[in-house]
Amino acid sequence: NEIRVFTPGTVANVACGFDVMGFALDSPGDEMVVRKITEKTVRILKMEGFNLPLEAHKNVAGVALLSMLNELNDNVGFEVEIYKKIKPGSGIGSSAASSAGAVVAANKLLGEPYSNTDLARFAMEGERLASGTAHADNVAPAIFGGFTLVRSYHPLDIISIDTPDELYATVIHPQIEVKTSDAREILKRNLLLKDAIRQWGNVGGLVAGLMRSDYELIGRSLEDVIVEPIRSILIPAFQEVKLRSKEVGALGGGISGSGPSIFMLSRGQETAEKVKAVMAETYDKVGIDYDIHLSKVN
Ligand code: HSE
Repeated sequence: NEIRVFTPGTVANVACGFDVMGFALDSPGDEMVVRKITEKTVRILKMEGFNLPLEAHKNVAGVALLSMLNELNDNVGFEVEIYKKIKPGSGIGSSAASSAGAVVAANKLLGEPYSNTDLARFAMEGERLASGTAHADNVAPAIFGGFTLVRSYHPLDIISIDTPDELYATVIHPQIEVKTSDAREILKRNLLLKDAIRQWGNVGGLVAGLMRSDYELIGRSLEDVIVEPIRSILIPAFQEVKLRSKEVGALGGGISGSGPSIFMLSRGQETAEKVKAVMAETYDKVGIDYDIHLSKVN
């Protein structure tokens, strides 16, 4: 009646795919212990690593589980322990990891009555609490694994996208906090048709590149003309990190989720390591502390 799960950090948006694309990382990730109880309630018993609310309706994992319980007729509930490694406000899907991990674990304890898409729907309620919008581009890869596309929100339609064997991500997290809700607030509500055309060209290009293992095409498609120009202003040395990473061979990259983390994709681990080195060097120079993660995309 108890299960322990690893729940991964995720990179959402992936440059051109605002609110629709994302992929899971090998690390960092959180661990969670979920227990089934015979009372229709959710209790967050423990939270290690970061100081986040324990009241179920104020906690993203709690809210995700409550939305699942809402659809369940049985007299069951859950107790949760969260061992958090992904910093809130880092741009690598900290809230999504908690929401997704909770519902995946709960579903296992119930004998898996729900599909991954159902689980994403529950976990999205956690995202609504965290950011004001029930976006699915972090919870989808956290639940499905690998690279995912949210083809549609209404109805929810999540597609797994194959990725090439040698694709690696390097993600740097400068130690400043950007709240997703703030990073969404500053976005323009309207966009120009010419920008939309460029963006959906890139979205199609990225998906085709991933599925055909065409690394050049992946690189060309990692461009965001809508969100990045606005949000990158919040991230110190953003352009320099991108430029220097590409100089040592990165295919391309952008802001991870709503930032401040920056991700770059590379072909092969060796190149991803070089990217890691120049990213670190860049932030050493500007005097900002950071964490860096290297992960295979699979
Ligand atoms: N698509 C979301 C955003 C991801 O960019 O606001 C947040 O991690």
